[in-house]
Amino acid sequence: MSPFPADFRWGVTTSSFQIEGATEEDGRGESVWDMFVRREGVIAGNGKADVACDHYHRWQEDVDWLSKLGVNAYRLSVAWPRILPEGTGRIEQRGLDFYDRLIDGLLVKGIEPWVCLYHWDFPLALFNRGGWLNRDSARWFADYVEVVVRRFSDRVTQWITFNEPQVFISEGHYWGRHAPGLHLPWKEVLLAGHHALLAHGYAVSAIRSIAAKTPFIGYAPASPVSLPALNSAEDVAIAYSESCAVTHESLWNMAWWLDPVVLGHYPADGVKVFGANAPSPAPGDMEAISQPLDFLGLNLYWGPRVDTTHRGREAVWTYPADHPRTAFGWAIVPEIMHWGPRFMAKRYGLPIVVAENGISCLDFVATDGSVHDGARVDFITRHLAMLQSAITAGVDIRGYFHWTLLDNFEWADGYKQRFGLIHTDFATGTRTPKDSFNHYRDIIAANGANLPSGNIGITEPDIWEKLIVT
Ligand code: FCB
Repeated sequence: MSPFPADFRWGVTTSSFQIEGATEEDGRGESVWDMFVRREGVIAGNGKADVACDHYHRWQEDVDWLSKLGVNAYRLSVAWPRILPEGTGRIEQRGLDFYDRLIDGLLVKGIEPWVCLYHWDFPLALFNRGGWLNRDSARWFADYVEVVVRRFSDRVTQWITFNEPQVFISEGHYWGRHAPGLHLPWKEVLLAGHHALLAHGYAVSAIRSIAAKTPFIGYAPASPVSLPALNSAEDVAIAYSESCAVTHESLWNMAWWLDPVVLGHYPADGVKVFGANAPSPAPGDMEAISQPLDFLGLNLYWGPRVDTTHRGREAVWTYPADHPRTAFGWAIVPEIMHWGPRFMAKRYGLPIVVAENGISCLDFVATDGSVHDGARVDFITRHLAMLQSAITAGVDIRGYFHWTLLDNFEWADGYKQRFGLIHTDFATGTRTPKDSFNHYRDIIAANGANLPSGNIGITEPDIWEKLIVT
């Protein structure tokens, strides 16, 4: 297999609301998540995030852990209501100062900050003015982004606009499982989604026009790539078209969120599926949305397998009962790391960064004081070997960010799902590195040269010239 590039970014990623705590400190405003967690019964165990990992106070210790891990990149997110407590207008310097200290702390250790501008903590004050349903939300977001970029772009060059619009729009506004917990009709959900896409485009333009250093800008949708059941030309072709399709009324696909951003239009099949509910972009919207990007971030966790016994391009979302699974119940399918980058690079022609990939396990501190998370060790090996397989197939892959540094507040699942390379004792805040921490550290130190080669990876059928970009 081809080696990982010498300048490959080995990273981990977190998000503000999931780790920071200190929700009432230093003038932070409330976000829709603060409102949502107060509701009875919406979070497993009624978990709250006012302390979470207490990263707001323990950030130096966490930067030390990053340094011990040996990562050369760390993806963090900025909490909008820490910077602008009312969402617009008044700037809270103490919020900016926190990220300032963190960014400097990373740079001192030789760790490149990758700043995600929105990982779901939408200001409550703006939700009360209509949230994403208000077209002004696109401008509100761009104005906030300007404040962040003015302060940090002398040191930060790597930017991600949005994390997983599928989730904050459809889980938040249609299914109601995430903040703000709404159950709106499709027409309104899609309108909110349109405004988020517009916000992305305005933000990209704002970063390009004001950044002090040449920026490298990307976007990180959830990436439920479809996989071929067999490594045959026919299965691969079906998996590719399925990965790029909108087959039914759902926003859990990639094309709805990527075609506008990269190709400048909504996917025709999606427009057909949503019919009269599809958004009617105002003149100039699609141009504003499709600003040139430098990379495509993929959040890769799992994907359905296309079963060719169901001819007619039908994806099968279920796996046999005995298939390996995470504690969340998600099927473990390392092939996503080959086919995800392969398919998305083919369709969109951008360099790829794996912006998230990880596994929740039932981890606990053993009698010897360690955390033996063998499943995560194996998961990392298999997934990185598959990523190397995609590099070998010629995909331009710039980095890998493991979700996540430390066990944290897992949204609706509260503290039930542990995704960290480090175990967090939520009663005391104590961090204990798991076996996977050492494993990933060793892979990073060897730039991936110690991954198994030969027995994990995909030899592609001769199909590429037959795949049509629609
Ligand atoms: C992703 C989210 C991230 C985390 C992981 C497990 O969908 O972006 O915040 O919750 O899932």
